[in-house]
Amino acid sequence: MEQELLRLKQEAEETLAQVAGSDQLEAFRVKYLGRKGGLLTGVLRQLGKVPAEERPRLGQLANDVKQGIEALFEEKKDLFAARSATGMEGFDYSLPGRYLPFGKLHPVTQVMEEICSIFEGLGFAVAEGPDVETDYYNFEALNIPKHHPARDMHDTFYVTESILLRTHTSPMQARIMERQDPPLRYIAPGKVYRCDSDITHTPMFHQVEGFLVDRQVSFADLKGVLTSFTHKMFERELALRFRPSFFPFTEPSAEVDIACVICGGGGCRVCKRTGWLEILGSGLIDPEVLKMVGYDPDIYSGFAFGLGVERIAMLKYGIDDIRLYYENDLRFLSQF
Ligand code: FA5
Repeated sequence: MEQELLRLKQEAEETLAQVAGSDQLEAFRVKYLGRKGGLLTGVLRQLGKVPAEERPRLGQLANDVKQGIEALFEEKKDLFAARSATGMEGFDYSLPGRYLPFGKLHPVTQVMEEICSIFEGLGFAVAEGPDVETDYYNFEALNIPKHHPARDMHDTFYVTESILLRTHTSPMQARIMERQDPPLRYIAPGKVYRCDSDITHTPMFHQVEGFLVDRQVSFADLKGVLTSFTHKMFERELALRFRPSFFPFTEPSAEVDIACVICGGGGCRVCKRTGWLEILGSGLIDPEVLKMVGYDPDIYSGFAFGLGVERIAMLKYGIDDIRLYYENDLRFLSQF
């Protein structure tokens, strides 16, 4: 009888595991647990024929087996009840799941976050400002008065005569400096807009502005910060070139190029055969700009730079056409 009980237990458990719906579950109940003709009930009835000294032990075993199977049965019953309440009856849980693709951050966003985290590591705080900007912050506060020829370099999208889409992140210099006294050390990431489009220019792109104002800040500090940033960003000691340039809000000014990583410096269509690619504009903040926010240029000096994020992303990933970033082709975007 002991053998019979254990065999029945195993058989009932295996059968129950295969039960896939309420009808089959009811058939299971009748076959094993039914009062009339149920297999387990049948075995229990034979207990009376067992020798008296064996009866307590076998009786206990028979009860344990019965209760165990009843518990499993109730569990399955609850599961089916829950499924039918959610309309999931008949749902085959053994089918393989459907693949749900994960979204990813856009490569430009990834690079922007990396740039910010490198500068945060160098002690810069992050600040953000509006994309729709006033003419005052975008130009005038940066020493670019109306009718100044430098405005032509920016190909501005105007909203009204005095409101525009910011052409660079430099307005954040004036916005932060007029609210806070030195020393300060900020980066300001964000979107900027220019009427410009070719393989290295898009009408909307991203910049990260950086600036530091304190006593006795020199061009050497600027070179040190940018060199350290570039080496961290590209994970190797790439050559940097500080090329004299002009910005109305910095003096002296320099554009910084890095050795073209697409062609290794030999010359290609991306670097326009020069072997170098411009990644940022920079310089020491012009004393006129400091005066406009109420700082004394005899006490304070500072440096500033504006990085082109897409350019850095192109170099980092070896992309030879900036427009690929904005065509929204998932075959391209999913590689990052
Ligand atoms: C400026 O925008 C200055 N505000 C930078 C600056 C800040 C100078 C602080 C001094 C002090 P520029 O126009 O050169 O400078 O643009 C900076 C970088 O943005 C360029 O080096 C380039 O990497 C990127 N860039 C410029 N135009 C585009 C464009 N249309 N598409 C993509 N990247 C661009």
